[in-house]
Amino acid sequence: MWGGRFSRKPAEIMQAINVSIGVDRRLWAQDLTGSEAHCRMLAAQGIIRQEDADAILGGLAIIREEMAAGTFPFRDAYEDVHMNVEARLAELIGDPSGRLHTARSRNDQVATDFRLWVRDACDEAAEGLKGLQRALLVQAEAHADALMPGFTHLQPAQPVTFGHHLMAYVEMFGRDAGRFADARARMNENPLGAAALAGSPFPIDRHATAAALGFDRPMANSLDAVSDRDFALEALSAAAICAGHLSRLGEEIVVWMTPQFGFVSLPDDLTTGSSIMPQKRNPDAAELVRAKAGRISGSLVALLTVMKGLPLAYSKDMQEDKPPVFEAFDALGLAVSAMTAMAAALTPNRERMAAAAGAGFSTATDLADWLVRELDLPFRRAHHVTGATVKRAEEMGVDLGQLPLSEMQKIEPRITEAVYKVLSPEASCASRTSYGGTAPEQVRARIAEWKARLS
Ligand code: ARG
Repeated sequence: MWGGRFSRKPAEIMQAINVSIGVDRRLWAQDLTGSEAHCRMLAAQGIIRQEDADAILGGLAIIREEMAAGTFPFRDAYEDVHMNVEARLAELIGDPSGRLHTARSRNDQVATDFRLWVRDACDEAAEGLKGLQRALLVQAEAHADALMPGFTHLQPAQPVTFGHHLMAYVEMFGRDAGRFADARARMNENPLGAAALAGSPFPIDRHATAAALGFDRPMANSLDAVSDRDFALEALSAAAICAGHLSRLGEEIVVWMTPQFGFVSLPDDLTTGSSIMPQKRNPDAAELVRAKAGRISGSLVALLTVMKGLPLAYSKDMQEDKPPVFEAFDALGLAVSAMTAMAAALTPNRERMAAAAGAGFSTATDLADWLVRELDLPFRRAHHVTGATVKRAEEMGVDLGQLPLSEMQKIEPRITEAVYKVLSPEASCASRTSYGGTAPEQVRARIAEWKARLS
């Protein structure tokens, strides 16, 4: 490509460190789309002749077929996808191919291709998350009133419903999808036409290529257009946050599936066995979803580190932008799909969860609230009385609901029989009717809202 200035071919090591075709070949569709838009614009502006444009578009169409069929001859000698396409175009159509790169540089070309790719990746991630949310909604609706322990510090805290717990993740994944949509909206500007860094002396129409490529407008500064990768960083940030959410649900499934918890089970086809221990059923998929967070947030850190301190405009460092982005979005797609399959297939053990929901004095707060409401105790006093009551129940080896009234009255004489009504986990959940609370009617209301939003 630059043989005019050079008299020696690149050393083997030069080519080895420089080559990116193994990675950026994934941009082939975006590269062809960008080139077609650029070519049409050049012809429309009278910068190249229409017959040359037609020849170029014909050649690009053949290349598109070769790419789709997997017969395109990728060659390391041509460094990257842009030069591979251009070299192939020259083989296919000869001289007119040399006019395609008028008023364009690989710098704005790669910035455009990559933006188009990341834009699609954001759309796909948001779509995938909707599928996961739908799977969770089905489970949440079926188990909107299924009792389970709610935890803080992984210690029994207050009873909640399984539906309520799953809906917490529906909210998180909803925000994740929103972050991908926000990132998409901000990145949707066209770098093409920034050329190498300073813009072009040709009468190009950047608004036309922007419209052709589905961008909202051209980027307003040519230096910025070719030198920033904040759009990829933003997408990776959204991916890393989302992966964190996925990893938390993965962890919960791992814990819930232990025989000690026994809250949920997964079918044979979504678990694995052990080569030595015949009794085992391992939640490998949930563990791997949990682990993908490492790879995905690692990708974010990798690109943040590549970009920091780079002077304007383009530096070859930026070729290292693609591996982390591809790796992160591959991992995210896999994690979301695996989690969707698990969410759809998991079977809660309602009896076991309900039994656990009442354990650990989980309705102690309900007792304290009752003392405030019925006996007009200040909450701090009620907290103290309840603590003493829990202590007594613990000594006697019973739950709060089984502690005889006489024992309670030794601590607070005004407690009456009526207190037992609030001490069951059912009553505890049913009472939490504040907006967003765990009462089944609240949970069902949120489910209905999400179903409407996702339909
Ligand atoms: N393969 C390069 C990349 O991914 C394309 C841009 C090359 N630009 C340059 N000035 N050498 O960044």
